[in-house]
Amino acid sequence: MKLSDQKGLVIWMLGLSGAGKSTVSNLIEAQFQKEHIFSIQLDGDELRKGLNSNLGFSMDDRAENIRRAAETAKIIANKGIIVICSFITPLNEHRALAQQILQEMYFEVFVDCPLHICQERDVKGLYKMAQHNTLKNFTGISSAFEKPENPDLILLTANLTAEQCCDQLYTTVSAKINSIQLA
Ligand code: ADX
Repeated sequence: MKLSDQKGLVIWMLGLSGAGKSTVSNLIEAQFQKEHIFSIQLDGDELRKGLNSNLGFSMDDRAENIRRAAETAKIIANKGIIVICSFITPLNEHRALAQQILQEMYFEVFVDCPLHICQERDVKGLYKMAQHNTLKNFTGISSAFEKPENPDLILLTANLTAEQCCDQLYTTVSAKINSIQLA
């Protein structure tokens, strides 16, 4: 599998905090590396430390977070690089915005994990804080998360291992890359 010099792809992983976006992103990045395909990860936690440090978690700020992330991904993907984006991207309008910016390079992956399992995992302890009201506007608790309408792929991270999810993603993305090549 080779990506042409001209066309990149943006794998847009969306889902609740703790759904497994970063875990699967790390695995797929390693898989790409094995195949000598260059990829770059962008994620909410990292961008919010720098480029997006002036943004909070109101819906307007989340939209601006997504807009900047998508514009950044576009610059990179236009060089023929695969960009793996991990952002909650809670509303359908946020997904539409990313798609509008990225056009045919946008490949939407719903990292689908039931809220109660994300809460049980609570890797960062944020659900607990949200439940005790010490963290406001937390997605799934006090801020909306809409089910995506038409994702290119759904990964059921509660039913499958992270490795199985990575395999599914790799197979689907390989087919997509081959179709880009042929276009
Ligand atoms: S998005 O909604 O704008 O797409 P983004 O993916 O950038 O969110 O950031 C989500 C990350 O920010 C979470 O994984 C979590 O670590 C952290 N975070 C801090 N506060 C919140 C909050 N109120 N809602 C969701 N995530 C939060």
